Amino acid sequence: MLHSRSYLHPFPARMAPSIALEEIERFDAGSVVVDPMVGSGTVALTAVAAGHQFYGFDLDPLAALIALVSTSRLNHDRVRRLSKTIVQLARSNSASPVDLPWVNAEDETHKFMEFWFADKQRQALSSIAIELDRLNQDEPSKEVDALKVALSRIIVTKESKASLARDTSHSRPHRVATTSDYDVFKGFEQSVNQILQRHSKLRIIGDATIERGDARKIGSIGDGFCDAIVSSPPYLNAIDYLRGHKLSLVWLGFTIPQIRQLRSMSVGAERATTESAELASRVLDGFGDISNLAPRQKAMITRYAIDLHRISKEAERILRPNGTALYVMGNSCLKSVYVDNASALTNAAELAGLTLLGRSEREIPLGSRYLPTPKDNNALSSRMRKEIVLKFQKVA
Ligand SMILES: C[S@@+](CC[C@H](N)C(=O)[O-])C[C@H]1O[C@@H](n2cnc3c(N)ncnc32)[C@H](O)[C@@H]1O
Repeated sequence: MLHSRSYLHPFPARMAPSIALEEIERFDAGSVVVDPMVGSGTVALTAVAAGHQFYGFDLDPLAALIALVSTSRLNHDRVRRLSKTIVQLARSNSASPVDLPWVNAEDETHKFMEFWFADKQRQALSSIAIELDRLNQDEPSKEVDALKVALSRIIVTKESKASLARDTSHSRPHRVATTSDYDVFKGFEQSVNQILQRHSKLRIIGDATIERGDARKIGSIGDGFCDAIVSSPPYLNAIDYLRGHKLSLVWLGFTIPQIRQLRSMSVGAERATTESAELASRVLDGFGDISNLAPRQKAMITRYAIDLHRISKEAERILRPNGTALYVMGNSCLKSVYVDNASALTNAAELAGLTLLGRSEREIPLGSRYLPTPKDNNALSSRMRKEIVLKFQKVA
């Protein structure tokens, strides 16, 4: 089993339960395993270490990038050489203003950068970002991707490093200063070394293909192609992964409007839906007493239900007959109403034609959950401290 030290990047959305990960190790050798919401790649790492053929997708470009680099065979010497060249070029250009092609005409992204980064760090980050972008245009490679992850690691962190924020890796960045002494070049070089050190400990046996994609419509996987799906869908109202990741994505070629657009496509994101209320009410059977919630919250729940159903339909499509889908799910609290995400996923999967084979629960160790749990020790908080592993099959 992988140790958390092997991870290349701090990331909140990790799939924890060993029950699901151990199952991957028991799949037939060389199985085709898919995680349609790959996050930073816990499932991906376990699958390639066990020698399976892995496919992963995520809407979040940073998640997909981290998972890709974590599961790729990298030429470490090449990463070191490229990083040295980039730092040399960037240092020599850092005295004069650098215009990033994706920011120029786009006021909102520029203002965002000014708010979250002090002048000196902005200048240094721009000069590294432009060199990374050039390299990526000329000769894209996994080694360049590794450098992007290295840059992101000095921004998406708990303590503030290159930015003026802390808690960026927990998706709730707070600006805690207006000035900073942080040395971006030195931090980047250290980050590259740390990545290579961690990467050298990973067991990469199987092959992985990881792309940005939508779990509700995975175009590149054919019908009946995979043996198993292992994933953990976002919980209703849980972490907004992109909120923290924005701080690094703006240096990797994304604008704030582009990120906003991705965010609106995330599972469970708050947006009204015009789709079938009938289907949503069947998915939500047993979900919780939501009758007194405001219309806005009800609309969000409806959308979540429809999304779970779409994820399940897509899972049913890509699984081979008798293939299995394993999901880890936690429950949520919305305006003090407890909601049972796992029962909604069970209904959605069954409506999509999958059969529930088993359900197990585990107590989440304190401090390791992706979203805050109620502090008091009542029945609600104990239900919130559970994670549920659901196993489905596409019965032939
Ligand atoms: C709990 S995390 C997954 C953790 C992952 N299974 C692992 O092994 O580390 C949930 C992920 O779902 C992603 N996500 C949300 N909506 C999505 C969608 N429509 N398509 C693909 N990924 C999505 C989020 O970006 C986030 O990375």
